[in-house]
Amino acid sequence: MAAVRSRPAVRVRAASPGEGTVVAGLWRELWDAHEAWGGYLGTRDPRAYEDLARRLDEDARVRAGQPVLGRHVHLVADVGGPPIGQVEGWLEKHGILDTTPYTCEVRSLIVSERARVSGAGRALLDALARYGSYMARGSPCVLAAEVLEENPAQAFYAKLGYESVAWSARIEVDRASALPSEDAVFARAAGPRDALAIASLDVALAARRRAQRDQRFDRPRAVEATMVGAIAAHLGRAPGMLEPVELVAVDPASVVRASATLVVSSLDPPFVPSRRALLGRVAVDPATEPAPFLREIVRTAARVAQLRGAALMELSDLDPPGSPLYSAALSTGAHPWSRVVEKMA
Ligand SMILES: CC(C)(COP(=O)(O)OP(=O)(O)OC[C@H]1O[C@@H](n2cnc3c(N)ncnc32)[C@H](O)[C@@H]1OP(=O)(O)O)[C@@H](O)C(=O)NCCC(=O)NCCS
Repeated sequence: MAAVRSRPAVRVRAASPGEGTVVAGLWRELWDAHEAWGGYLGTRDPRAYEDLARRLDEDARVRAGQPVLGRHVHLVADVGGPPIGQVEGWLEKHGILDTTPYTCEVRSLIVSERARVSGAGRALLDALARYGSYMARGSPCVLAAEVLEENPAQAFYAKLGYESVAWSARIEVDRASALPSEDAVFARAAGPRDALAIASLDVALAARRRAQRDQRFDRPRAVEATMVGAIAAHLGRAPGMLEPVELVAVDPASVVRASATLVVSSLDPPFVPSRRALLGRVAVDPATEPAPFLREIVRTAARVAQLRGAALMELSDLDPPGSPLYSAALSTGAHPWSRVVEKMA
């Protein structure tokens, strides 16, 4: 009879001072894996990882054995020696309603290749769920991870009961800015006069998110004056406050049919430093065909992203592959990029 090998016991804990080099090595493994799936480039400069190791040691000293620091959790896993895996969590509250759960964003989950499929990934996420609930002080908390479409970890998350709730596609900014303009559709920066239209589109966006079982945001709420006033004030903020950029697309009758928000941010080491553009909160009037409005917003957003130095732009908050919105995103020339998977803690 073949011998049955039992799995080694996995322990999940805070990192200790002196483990920075091992944990930085895990980061390096994660970055290399992400690159293989088309992710943003990680640096090859060993000094960046030496610097990261020093910062991790300093961080571990400050935490003094406690994984939670503010709204951030950092956990490592071992099987009786140095760390073989790690995960980070960031606690966020995306909505304003009491009934909207907190979100614990799952980041930088990695189990070293030599230690995989022995239960460490599951143990790290189980522990993160406990810390997420602890930080949410008894309020509901949902764990959410962004997983690249090429990443085989999709199957791992599915096995653990995570559901796909939002999708994204990515496009080269040069390509998007060269899209032909749409007949009779026009995109522009939003102003205070668009507040009511944007508030109505936000309701459609909230309904779409709920239909995909995305728990992170407020349920759809009736449009009311306070909400419209707050949006108008935000859109009327002083010139010079350039981020985020709110965009709308209008039809020939100047009716706003779609909106989206553009953010351009920096990727810092250990990424190769670069600029990343994110076009999110994509909302389209459910009564219209989304493609021309989305294409026009993408074209306009790409021109802004180009001025801000970004080479790639992600279109997030999409419905699943095959849906009109996803197909509209691909019709710009964007490629499938990632999805958000979610599970209640
Ligand atoms: C994803 C990852 C963290 C999983 O870690 P792991 O320690 O190997 O996972 P576990 O051993 O806890 O696996 C839990 C379950 O998922 C299954 N599983 C793990 N990886 C899988 C895969 N690639 N495909 C299918 N199933 C998988 C395991 O068989 C196990 O099932 P079981 O409970 O029925 O035995 C690891 O593969 C990894 O580090 N990948 C590279 C980095 C990465 O993709 N991170 C996630 C970024 S979003």
